[in-house]
Amino acid sequence: MARRFHVTTFGCQMNVHDSERMRGMLSSLGYEEASEREEADVILFNTCSIRESADSRFIAHLGEAKRLKSEDPTRVVGVGGCWAQSVKDEVFQRFPFVDVAFGPGQIHKLAEFLNSDSLSAQGYFEFEDFSGHLPTRREREFQGWLQISQGCNCVCSYCIVPSTRGREVSRDPFELIAEAEALAGDGVREVTLLGQNVNSYGRELPKDRRISFAELLAMVDAVEGIDRIRYTSPHPKDMKEDVIRAHADLPALCEQIHLPLQSGSSAILKRMRRTYDRRRYMDRVALIREHVPDCAITTDIIVGFPGETEADFEQTLEVVEEVAYDGAFTFVFSPRRETEAATMAEQVPHPVKVERMERLIEAVQRRAAERARRFVGRTMEVLVEGTSRTDPTKLRGRTRHNKAVNFEGVAESGQFVDVEIDSATSQTLSGVSAPPHSAP
Ligand code: SAH
Ligand code: SF4
Ligand code: F3S
Repeated sequence: MARRFHVTTFGCQMNVHDSERMRGMLSSLGYEEASEREEADVILFNTCSIRESADSRFIAHLGEAKRLKSEDPTRVVGVGGCWAQSVKDEVFQRFPFVDVAFGPGQIHKLAEFLNSDSLSAQGYFEFEDFSGHLPTRREREFQGWLQISQGCNCVCSYCIVPSTRGREVSRDPFELIAEAEALAGDGVREVTLLGQNVNSYGRELPKDRRISFAELLAMVDAVEGIDRIRYTSPHPKDMKEDVIRAHADLPALCEQIHLPLQSGSSAILKRMRRTYDRRRYMDRVALIREHVPDCAITTDIIVGFPGETEADFEQTLEVVEEVAYDGAFTFVFSPRRETEAATMAEQVPHPVKVERMERLIEAVQRRAAERARRFVGRTMEVLVEGTSRTDPTKLRGRTRHNKAVNFEGVAESGQFVDVEIDSATSQTLSGVSAPPHSAP
């Protein structure tokens, strides 16, 4: 019987992408995927370390792997991703039952390890290659990732990512286009370009192949069969007019921009080393509203950054009121090992963070619900993703604005349907669909 593997993924879309590569690589080695961890011969974790809660969630899972390994010592336990990279060889001291550990740039080493007769534990932590080169097993056949860069050159004082994913390296544009064409040929209708800072793409490429992020978007847009393009995450400091205009000009590029704010206070942004201030951020928002009036804007916000006063926090609330985000990911500041902010004076007490978080969520949801009402009465193009999670008699999909829609109708996953929206909440839209059509 074929050996079986199981992967548990934590963290961001980059990890989701990397896990698809792990699956693809193991499948091409003849392994099969087990639906339960207990049934697997190779137990893998793709880890995240962005906040303390991410670490602790993963450590609990690792305890279960330890138990399974003690039941059957021939099992292999592998730990990849950002947490592994940030603690490196310490993994083996703290968790002696781990057989192989590797960082985000060494996923291919997993195959090498599994093919070797090595009985000793191995760690691989030097960046070698993009996982985008590896075979993949996509979660949904009509949606694909395109990893355009690895790493981040920013020095945001709270963030562990530059130390886990390394310096920024962009992939060759022609290679990316070939990959986009292959995805389209394979039935992918929607691609998401991935990078820690997608709009600084290309800066370190050799001169003869150096293109800007906006040019890359235009090249992907020209690929036959790709009907929707998204990307994450851009950095406000690099959000140039050409990228914003591309949303109005390129038919496949969706009316949706995730623009991480982090804080509405310029003083806090400075301590975060974000290199923009509130005015510059609002200026980007104004430019988006000017060129793409209906564009959905979403964001990331941190509350309780060291030194954040009540007045600073109120400025964040003001920005939330002014922008009226379509949605926001909100985080309580979490001190991360070896980051500058972890040891800053004036750490905000926990109860204050919690109280601010509650107020922030109230404002975000209220504004998002108000904003979502603009869709009621409109007919929106929806890419069908499956059945509704809350009501199995309904279908679920996403609009170009990246809004989840639950609707009545008959269609297959991967088809486009027009849905007449009849109600909206801060999170989801509801409606009734017309019959499917093949392409937008
Ligand atoms: N590269 C992306 C996203 C990085 S991580 C970007 O710059 O936008 C995703 C989000 O996690 C960040 O935008 C930030 O809001 C949050 N985050 C990162 N480090 C954090 C920390 N130490 N505590 C709380 N939230 C954090
Ligand atoms: Fe982290 Fe800042 Fe880089 Fe985003 S831009 S990954 S928040 S250092
Ligand atoms: Fe986590 Fe690494 Fe992504 S720390 S958020 S998995 S880049």
